[in-house]
Amino acid sequence: MRWRCVTGGLLVVMGLAVVHAALEHDEPIIGVDLDGNLFINTSSSADGHTRRLLLNGVDVLRELTELRQKCAGNVPRTTTTAPSTVAASTAMPVSYTGTVGCQLESVPSNVTHLFGNVSLSFCPLLTAESLKVFNELVYVSGDLKIELNTNLTNVDGLGSITSVGDSFFINSNDALINVAGVGNITSVGGDVDIRYNEALVNVDGLGSITSVGGYLSIFSNPVLDNVDGLRSITDVGGYLSIRANAALTNVDGLGSITIVRGYLGIYGNDALTNVDGLGNITSVEGTLHICSNSQLDTSTVPESVRSLGTCQVITSENCMTC
Ligand SMILES: *[C@@H]1O[C@H](CO)[C@@H](O)[C@H](O)[C@H]1NC(C)=O
Ligand SMILES: *[C@@H]1O[C@H](CO)[C@@H](O)[C@H](O)[C@H]1NC(C)=O
Ligand SMILES: *[C@@H]1O[C@H](CO)[C@@H](O)[C@H](O)[C@H]1NC(C)=O
Ligand SMILES: *[C@@H]1O[C@H](CO)[C@@H](O)[C@H](O)[C@H]1NC(C)=O
Ligand SMILES: *[C@@H]1O[C@H](CO)[C@@H](O)[C@H](O)[C@H]1NC(C)=O
Ligand SMILES: *[C@@H]1O[C@H](CO)[C@@H](O)[C@H](O)[C@H]1NC(C)=O
Repeated sequence: MRWRCVTGGLLVVMGLAVVHAALEHDEPIIGVDLDGNLFINTSSSADGHTRRLLLNGVDVLRELTELRQKCAGNVPRTTTTAPSTVAASTAMPVSYTGTVGCQLESVPSNVTHLFGNVSLSFCPLLTAESLKVFNELVYVSGDLKIELNTNLTNVDGLGSITSVGDSFFINSNDALINVAGVGNITSVGGDVDIRYNEALVNVDGLGSITSVGGYLSIFSNPVLDNVDGLRSITDVGGYLSIRANAALTNVDGLGSITIVRGYLGIYGNDALTNVDGLGNITSVEGTLHICSNSQLDTSTVPESVRSLGTCQVITSENCMTC
């Protein structure tokens, strides 16, 4: 974690310097641009390789590259192997620093580590096919947001991602049927928010996520009939809200959750007939609202659930504050 932060910061600084440097390439340069950014460039050799940059004898660029690989995790330590006639894999981590928007053509193909936000919001041309540029992507340091993309039917191109540093949103993608493609994500540092996806029938693709650092919200997905895909989540760092999902019949998928560090709200799910899936929750740090679920016989709410939270509203009528 510490390495990640340190190198992330350095990368941002280096990124700015590079962006604002604009002059000749061949001469070594130490300069300040109009914005006050300091940049240091070494000279290029005839073969195009940059000369080393040494600070008190430390080969800064080389060390930065190594740190970047280390902090990216999952990069095996290189060991010398016996010569072989079989070509060894030469795949190297490819990192990209910056924000990724709808213009995926500017993302390096086979990018593995993305330091910044991926914000695919309102990209009418975005299709499952175009997401394949991310086939090798294992890590996003910031947000991963996929919103308002009318032609996106699946997110299979994201299948290598194991970790999202900040929030993960899947919102208002009318053609998206499932999120199976994100099945290798195990942790989300920020919020998980799945809402207004007209065709989404399940969230099984979230099945590897064990921890959510922020809130977890499943809101207004009209054909979603279960949340079994949440079954690996044990701890929710913020509130947990399951609201207005018209076809949802149960919340069994919440069965591994033991702690909710904000409020717990299950409301306005008109097909919900039981909340047995809340049965392993032992601690809710905010209020408890189980209300306005018109088909739910509240006398079936498990006994262990009734006293959770700072106060309780358990009714099939409209929700009230407490
Ligand atoms: C400094 O080096 C970077 C990376 O090689 C290059 O993109 C940039 O154009 C250089 N700037 C100057 C002023 O030479
Ligand atoms: C991406 O990786 C694949 C498989 O490792 C390789 O065949 C392909 O050439 C790479 N693409 C680019 C643009 O480097
Ligand atoms: C990513 O987006 C968040 C807002 O969701 C913003 O606060 C943050 O600064 C962004 N990070 C980068 C690196 O742009
Ligand atoms: C996106 O979907 C709309 C209709 O939903 C269609 O007219 C358009 O051709 C699609 N675009 C692409 C790139 O598939
Ligand atoms: C998860 O990763 C494994 C191998 O690393 C791969 O075989 C599998 O297809 C990935 N899952 C998804 C949903 O892409
Ligand atoms: C509670 O957890 C146990 C094992 O950890 C599991 O067998 C049981 O099904 C869970 N309860 C619910 C309601 O999911």
